[in-house]
Amino acid sequence: MATNQDIINELRKSYAMELETVENYLANAIDLDGVRAEEIKKALLSDIEEELQHARKLGNRIKVLEGRLPGSLDLERTQRFLRPPKDSTDVIAVIKGAIRAEDEAIEQYKKLIKMCDPIDLVTQDLILEITAQEQAHRRQIYRVPLRVRTRRSQAAHRCSVTVTQPSWLFRQAGFPACSWPILSLLNESLQRRTGSLTSRCSLLAMRAKPCGAPADLR
Ligand SMILES: [Fe+2]
Ligand SMILES: [Fe+2]
Repeated sequence: MATNQDIINELRKSYAMELETVENYLANAIDLDGVRAEEIKKALLSDIEEELQHARKLGNRIKVLEGRLPGSLDLERTQRFLRPPKDSTDVIAVIKGAIRAEDEAIEQYKKLIKMCDPIDLVTQDLILEITAQEQAHRRQIYRVPLRVRTRRSQAAHRCSVTVTQPSWLFRQAGFPACSWPILSLLNESLQRRTGSLTSRCSLLAMRAKPCGAPADLR
């Protein structure tokens, strides 16, 4: 059967894991670049607050059990998989790393839950609560690529409207009908070079400034 000291040791390990997760989530939330990174950056920033709360609760429990809290030099570091990736636009690497961090936290807490039974039910209760929040984090992060994909498919749908019905776009933008064949060619060229949404914006920008070509065209 586990002793009080065993539980304190595992609580100290969990405390270090929480703080390391905060450090890496913060680093990735700041370091990632690109439009596709926005969803995961938001998810990481919102999780940081809760991970800090977990560390605080674990620290308080260690103290109640007459343990001592580790300083920064005594904290173990293991999350090589969650360092900011070499390519600062590599969103998938960060998502995979964050899911792994949550999985490892859940595993650590499952171990503690078993260890506390039946000798320390108060610590067990605390860990059960934290585990439920880690599972919610995991689900939130796991769904980020899905949300990005949904947004991209919505964007693709808007693009398909532009591609299949360019005259509709030109009419909406107020271009005269005589200019539609030229604009259509221009639109196709821009779609090949920059993507449909950009070209749509460019065409609207041209309408706003009919005397000058938008920067994209040069
Ligand atoms: Fe946590
Ligand atoms: Fe978490």
